[in-house]
Amino acid sequence: MMGSKMRVLVSGLMLVLGAMSVSGTVGAAGDAAAGQGKTAVCAGCHGVDGNSAVPNFPKLAGLGERYLEKQILDIKEGRRPIVEMTGMTENLSAQDIADIAAFYAAQPATTGQAKADTIELGEQLYRAGNSAKGIPACTGCHGPSGKGNAPAGFPRLAGQHASYTETQLVKFRSGERTNDGDTRMMRDIAANLSDNEIKALSNYIFGLY
Ligand code: HEC
Ligand code: HEC
Repeated sequence: MMGSKMRVLVSGLMLVLGAMSVSGTVGAAGDAAAGQGKTAVCAGCHGVDGNSAVPNFPKLAGLGERYLEKQILDIKEGRRPIVEMTGMTENLSAQDIADIAAFYAAQPATTGQAKADTIELGEQLYRAGNSAKGIPACTGCHGPSGKGNAPAGFPRLAGQHASYTETQLVKFRSGERTNDGDTRMMRDIAANLSDNEIKALSNYIFGLY
């Protein structure tokens, strides 16, 4: 039997997809070539091609234009405060943000190597979820190979540093990250994940391709 929580999630998703198709994309069309020249200040942490070498900083390569545009705007306007990025987004125009998003979205993302110990639990949750606990399969939105759904704004997860993914799931669970919108999609999902499940998912996602 489908739990009521799952049904709420599914109808929430329908609403979001409906709303998205009505509102269209966030802003101006991005120019990737122009965007490259605007990322000098970003490269130190996120890597020249958006594949950061240091796990503290997320990879931006291939995350999807719409998702990237939304995040940079959320960071700039305070909906997703990031202390490390203080002062870096204030002077970006809507066109700059669109260009930077187009640039990173076009970069091929590197993959990682998952540790063997928790792959099984991670894969199980990623592919099938756990309906008894109200956890939907991640594949439904982020795709079977973790590539995301760029037009819908569902980010790529595959290859992302495990420590970053873990931090985000913990922040969604605690309500520290709230920019998943009024539907609370990721907060509601993360609320039902244990520490152990978050670690297993993050490890599995790092090696996903
Ligand atoms: C001093 C290091 C640093 C610099 C420089 C920096 N960032 Fe970041 N950025 C971070 C950190 C740390 C996070 C993740 C914080 C968190 O949520 O845990 C982040 C997150 C992001 C995210 C969200 C990624 C995701 O997967 O949701 C985007 C987009 C981003 N940065 C874009 C930029 C852009 C564009 C620039 C240049 C204008 C830039 N950053 C410069 C440290 C940096
Ligand atoms: C109903 C659709 C949906 C499902 C199912 C879903 N997600 Fe998400 N996820 C999203 C959306 C939308 C965002 C982006 C929110 C935003 O705009 O900040 C997101 C963002 C994320 C992020 C942040 C990525 C980043 O770069 O910062 C992580 C990590 C994540 N999801 C993991 C998962 C995991 C693990 C599962 C399965 C347990 C899952 N998601 C299931 C829709 C979904």
